[in-house]
Amino acid sequence: MSVFSLLFSFYLIIYYANTAPASNENGLNNGLIANGKVNDEPMCKMDEGRIEIPLNGRIRLGTNPCKVCTCTLTGFACEDQCETIPGSTSIGAPGEIGTTTTSGSTSPTPGQIMISPSFPPSPMPNANGNTPTSSTPSTSINRNSNNGDLPTNYAGGACTRLGACGREYAYADCSEVYASGKRTTGIYEIWPRTSPKPFRVLCDMDTDGGGWTVIQHRGDYYPQTNFYQTWSTYKRGFGDLTRDFYLGNEKIYLIGEQDEYRIHFDLEDFNNQTRFAEYEWFFITNEQTKYTLNVGDYVKTSNAGDSFSHARGMRFTTRDQDNDVSSTKQCAENFFSGWWHKDCTVVNLNGLYIRGNDTSATGIFWSGWLGGNYSLKSCSIKIRPNTFSSDMFL
Ligand SMILES: *[C@@H]1O[C@H](CO)[C@@H](O)[C@H](O)[C@H]1NC(C)=O
Ligand SMILES: *[C@@H]1O[C@H](CO)[C@@H](O)[C@H](O)[C@H]1NC(C)=O
Ligand SMILES: *[C@@H]1O[C@H](CO)[C@@H](O)[C@H](O)[C@H]1NC(C)=O
Repeated sequence: MSVFSLLFSFYLIIYYANTAPASNENGLNNGLIANGKVNDEPMCKMDEGRIEIPLNGRIRLGTNPCKVCTCTLTGFACEDQCETIPGSTSIGAPGEIGTTTTSGSTSPTPGQIMISPSFPPSPMPNANGNTPTSSTPSTSINRNSNNGDLPTNYAGGACTRLGACGREYAYADCSEVYASGKRTTGIYEIWPRTSPKPFRVLCDMDTDGGGWTVIQHRGDYYPQTNFYQTWSTYKRGFGDLTRDFYLGNEKIYLIGEQDEYRIHFDLEDFNNQTRFAEYEWFFITNEQTKYTLNVGDYVKTSNAGDSFSHARGMRFTTRDQDNDVSSTKQCAENFFSGWWHKDCTVVNLNGLYIRGNDTSATGIFWSGWLGGNYSLKSCSIKIRPNTFSSDMFL
């Protein structure tokens, strides 16, 4: 047999393997079909055709982040790829983003194993049947509208960003969770575009139309989470997503660089009075530039008073890393908080849990409302893309 005919036979085997007829019964949920695209490459197709995976492509399915399915000639073959399923609501467990410790486990963590690199996947058609030319939408408006078509039987971050069904099915933030049809406030997994891993967040689906990713929350809990923490702890995040927590500067940075976000503060005192403050846009820079605060104008319809503008342009300061502009004060130590301290601050939502009036100005305060000597009962900080409108998903 000549080299040519050997190669030709090899080509034929590949050709027939790739054009094998569909062997499934109904083409739904586990089917392998020839999808009628240009090259008729066999695909595993599911959820009434909205998700297509090329032969040998891999996808993470369902609510179990460890369940990885491979597209075979007979449909999806699934297996558990990790030993334990992360179910904790605590932030910053080993292996999370921003943690410096490394896991000794050799088993893959959720989100690591995905699409077979030897089968570069094709872009997903969107709701209009158009195939995006890139997995990164050119505008945030497209991204939100495309994601109104997310299948609801998928957990957040169900697919990989590495290709195939790709970005479209990993929620970038809570606005995409909302767009997928999940309208209940609670904990969801998201996977910001440049994040090495997915992570859990609290989504506020109630405030002003929902879709908010909560980045900080305080409340009247016992015991209280300690917010007088170090740089690395603020980087990684801490607390419990069902109680009081700080999501973590690295995560806040990764979410914020995806889109133009606005920031919303909810405040409550011990008389059940509430106020809110909103700013037109918000993001923080990366760790190298000390998570510097970038924030737009105070939204005039807010009623808490514009106190956060004071921190505009400030770097993050913690008790072990003094990045404030004061050469004499130790702002984090003086206010018992990690914050974008200037000289030092008129907002201290990461301060001590003091309960109402005090004279130390070290509590959870928003000066523009109740001054620096009143420590609030609860507060939360949340962000949402400016393009978001709950009207889009009615
Ligand atoms: C605040 O609201 C809670 C729950 O509705 C209620 O139990 C409490 O008495 C209220 N406190 C004040 C000061 O009105
Ligand atoms: C807190 O301080 C304000 C202003 O001085 C005062 O009106 C209020 O009665 C104080 N509240 C308590 C519970 O002491
Ligand atoms: C808090 O109260 C103390 C004692 O009355 C006062 O010296 C200080 O200026 C107050 N701080 C603020 C921020 O109002």
